[in-house]
Amino acid sequence: MSKTNESLMQRRQAAVPRGVGQIHPIFAESAKNSTVTDVEGREFIDFAGGIAVLNTGHVHPKIIAAVTEQLNKLTHTCFQVLAYEPYVEVCEKVNAKVPGDFAKKTLLVTTGSEAVENAVKIARAATGRAGVIAFTGAYHGRTMMTLGLTGKVVPYSAGMGLMPGGIFRALYPNELHGVSVDDSIASIERIFKNDAEPKDIAAIIIEPVQGEGGFYVAPKAFMARLRALCDQHGILLIADEVQTGAGRTGTFFAMEQMGVAADLTTFAKSIAGGFPLAGVCGKAEYMDAIAPGGLGGTYAGSPIACAAALAVMEIFEEEHLLDRCKAVAERLVGGLRKIQAKYPVIGDVRGLGAMIAIELCEGGDIHKPNAAAVAQIVAKARDKGLILLSCGTYGNVLRVLVPLTAPDAQLDKGLAIIEECFAELA
Ligand SMILES: Cc1ncc(COP(=O)(O)O)c(C=O)c1O
Repeated sequence: MSKTNESLMQRRQAAVPRGVGQIHPIFAESAKNSTVTDVEGREFIDFAGGIAVLNTGHVHPKIIAAVTEQLNKLTHTCFQVLAYEPYVEVCEKVNAKVPGDFAKKTLLVTTGSEAVENAVKIARAATGRAGVIAFTGAYHGRTMMTLGLTGKVVPYSAGMGLMPGGIFRALYPNELHGVSVDDSIASIERIFKNDAEPKDIAAIIIEPVQGEGGFYVAPKAFMARLRALCDQHGILLIADEVQTGAGRTGTFFAMEQMGVAADLTTFAKSIAGGFPLAGVCGKAEYMDAIAPGGLGGTYAGSPIACAAALAVMEIFEEEHLLDRCKAVAERLVGGLRKIQAKYPVIGDVRGLGAMIAIELCEGGDIHKPNAAAVAQIVAKARDKGLILLSCGTYGNVLRVLVPLTAPDAQLDKGLAIIEECFAELA
């Protein structure tokens, strides 16, 4: 019997716990650049990019060649047992790319959550303090510490009881929803008055553009004040660039556009084009705060993933993907704004570079989130051959994370499908 999405879904439901969600009832068989083919032979335009992992597209030939070459040489030693050059080379390249006019070092791990966990460990060791401030609407992962930092209980930590202590929550600046830069800074000062002295806070962690939280962009003026506040109190600033990094926002790291440097930067997702690699890059003196043996992991910085990451960074240069990112952003934001003009359900179109969001609301009132409309658009788009994702604290934001390598014709087709979906919704 040939495989169908339905038959595989039945097997999945019997074999995989329901806690592992699935946005689209589709099983992928193969993919190329921005097109995915399912097990029934149907093609989809991929505006999700495996949640911001495929800035260089599916199965980029250069990545496949680099990984194949590495596969035939060496697949695993564990870097802490026998080291290998690709790990060191990735770290050198990342050190040069992460903003900050100071000596840097980089640690490689496997997932974004693991990168955030390690950034917190490093901040604790470097400062001798334990507290961490995170923001409303933040997403930092699904491990215990990162769940504590994540600012959304349902579905991420629901039913699991209280998360680790020592985490305090400030307001993420969000002018659209009435949180000014002053409000946000005041919320941190309030933590210092109500909850914990600054001398007990190791780090403030922030996504320069919130990912799961709804693609809200932190204002540059806010970042400057946050940096000053951290400097005043000896607190480390952690930029979580797991979703914004590797070229999604028009610069290799989003912090390049924020006017200040973080002490520690986490990255993952598109850095290795679909292979599991993540890391923490930071000021050398902080990165060296933990003694030998305190950092690492069996698979951390696998040679295969490092080979992929080196290829990704070369592709960015050779294919001028940062310029391409700006062109993709212009085309999509321009097209989406035209659609917005026709449909009041679209309250806002925003983003930084090609990290683009469409926020839906009821009756043209931006303060009335419309998650139902988002769910309908995601389903309708899929039926028409376009894979979209939602995000936002209220599930009322559509997000676009299309490969930067997608041809214009696919971007235009995707826009046309989105427009059709809104026309049917109206
Ligand atoms: C900003 C941010 N931090 C951390 C994570 C966690 O990464 P991972 O799912 O690889 O553990 C994510 C994942 O979406 C993310 O967007």
